[in-house]
Amino acid sequence: MDIRGLGYLAIASSDLGAWERFACEVLGLMRNPLLSSDEALYLRMDERPYRVVVETSDADRFSCAGWQVSGPDDFEQACAELEAAGVGLERGTADQCDRRRVHDLVRLQDPSGNTLEIFHGSIYEHTPFVSPAATSGFVTGDLGMGHIVIPAPAYDECLAFYTEVLGFRRSDFMQMGPMTITFLHCNARHHSLALMSAESPNGLFHFMAEAKTLDDVGYALDRVQGADLHLSSTLGRHTNDQMTSFYVRSPSGFDVEFGCGGILVDDATWTTGEITAPSFWGHHWNAG
Ligand SMILES: [Fe+2]
Repeated sequence: MDIRGLGYLAIASSDLGAWERFACEVLGLMRNPLLSSDEALYLRMDERPYRVVVETSDADRFSCAGWQVSGPDDFEQACAELEAAGVGLERGTADQCDRRRVHDLVRLQDPSGNTLEIFHGSIYEHTPFVSPAATSGFVTGDLGMGHIVIPAPAYDECLAFYTEVLGFRRSDFMQMGPMTITFLHCNARHHSLALMSAESPNGLFHFMAEAKTLDDVGYALDRVQGADLHLSSTLGRHTNDQMTSFYVRSPSGFDVEFGCGGILVDDATWTTGEITAPSFWGHHWNAG
């Protein structure tokens, strides 16, 4: 299977207003006024109509990641491969596809119970992205919208599922006491997905948005510190993707990593390894 990138994230929230203030005023994402309603907040990072959709719910948790394949032929091939691997599939209805602004999608669960969607055919709008917080822009395009770190208590089964069935490639991994975290790529972004061998009460450890410049990160950090928000980790620089970033607690309880300067990997030359520290400097955590 040839997953091209992380296309979108869906989040369930009891407080769309809090998410709008957090995403737009602090992170610098743009509310899409054409798609957003009382039921769903569509947040733009680039030329796509949205990269994060927050859907109103009694729950506050991560709903699912949307992984993109190149087009209809690859999509049907992906469905056939999933069915051959014994994975239960729920084909997206016309209404579900319309709400995701895609041509077709299928929903499934990984071996740890995380929901994911595989889709093709983004429906574009041709209006400019303008950050309401004057963030200069986000690094997306061929690299997808960023990365996610998800709970994988069924760790071995999850790693096999994402590498052998979905075709992710290993970037590197780290042992953290009893926990293992493996970083996986599906394009040149160092990792679009990381699997952590632990539970998460809200379905996600964090998602990462990569801004274009260090100044974007610094201004965002100032906005976090000027708002009533929990800074989960100070500014730091990761050893593996070399991202300079901080972490802030979202209204759904999981963190958002806001960074810049992530490295690219080339499958023709990349070799996997074990990292023994998450960061060169900084990233002092405050569980709070
Ligand atoms: Fe991260």
